[in-house]
Amino acid sequence: MDYETILVETHEQVGLLRLNRPKALNALNPQLVAELVSALQAFDADEAIRAVVLTGSEKAFAAGADIREMADMSAVDMLKADLIGTWDGIYQVKKPLIAAVSGYALGGGFEVALMCDMIIASETAVFGLPEVSLGIIPGAGGTQRLVREVGKGLAMEVILNDRRLSAEEALALGLVNAVYPTDTYLDEALALAAQIASRPPLAVRFAKEAINQAYETALTEGLLFERRGLYFLFSSEDQTEGMAAFLEKRSPEFKGR
Ligand code: CAA
Repeated sequence: MDYETILVETHEQVGLLRLNRPKALNALNPQLVAELVSALQAFDADEAIRAVVLTGSEKAFAAGADIREMADMSAVDMLKADLIGTWDGIYQVKKPLIAAVSGYALGGGFEVALMCDMIIASETAVFGLPEVSLGIIPGAGGTQRLVREVGKGLAMEVILNDRRLSAEEALALGLVNAVYPTDTYLDEALALAAQIASRPPLAVRFAKEAINQAYETALTEGLLFERRGLYFLFSSEDQTEGMAAFLEKRSPEFKGR
């Protein structure tokens, strides 16, 4: 499929999506989000792909929702278009999704990174939610996801007072998994994705779902979800292979079945 606002690549078992509206610092307009969700769904459906990396440019992962396209909208326009509803497709991806963030990850850009499973940052990454300065609030999960990641006090400061977080701060907070020089952060994200891609896909999928349940449910329900996932995986060929390979002291060959 041809896209205008994103670039799609595959690196063996890893899919790579690059946000590509350089003149607007990858501002997330409806076309870009629709194309992004479509490409993510295509990777999700492709058996040859086992993990996905989402990146922007060195200067900007994404500078937020497109202010130019939103500026003149009324509340009723916003409600009818439900622009943010489409963004849920990013969080609904079943395969592991790693954000490789360099430069600005502001507003919706930060929120997209927060929807990903892991964040690898370059030294120049800056995370922030400046929506209040525009007279609005974050609308793609920022108020809910950031507080779960960094706690109430800091989330308040970031959102109410446009406090920006550097890559190093984000690392110390556990918000990002690792920080690398600008020259290598994308390769490192791809390498991490390739490692995960070598693991049994069904177990990886259930593990991701179970971890995300920790955000969605009470502990008892989450534990039940986890246990059912564990039991279910005993019906997979990969479980038989993984355990046999361990006992036979050889490398396993996982097929995703
Ligand atoms: N929407 C639309 N266009 C944007 C944009 C955005 N979010 N961010 C940057 N651009 C455009 C600029 O308008 C500019 O275009 P022109 O050359 O045509 O004027 C171009 O990208 C380059 O931007 P700057 O000249 O501003 O570049 P800079 O290096 O001086 O500054 C920046 C970079 C600090 C990121 C600055 O562009 C900025 O503050 N951007 C807006 C950040 C923001 O407020 N994001 C929140 C958006 S609202 C949101 O995301 C809602 C939600 O929750 C979903």
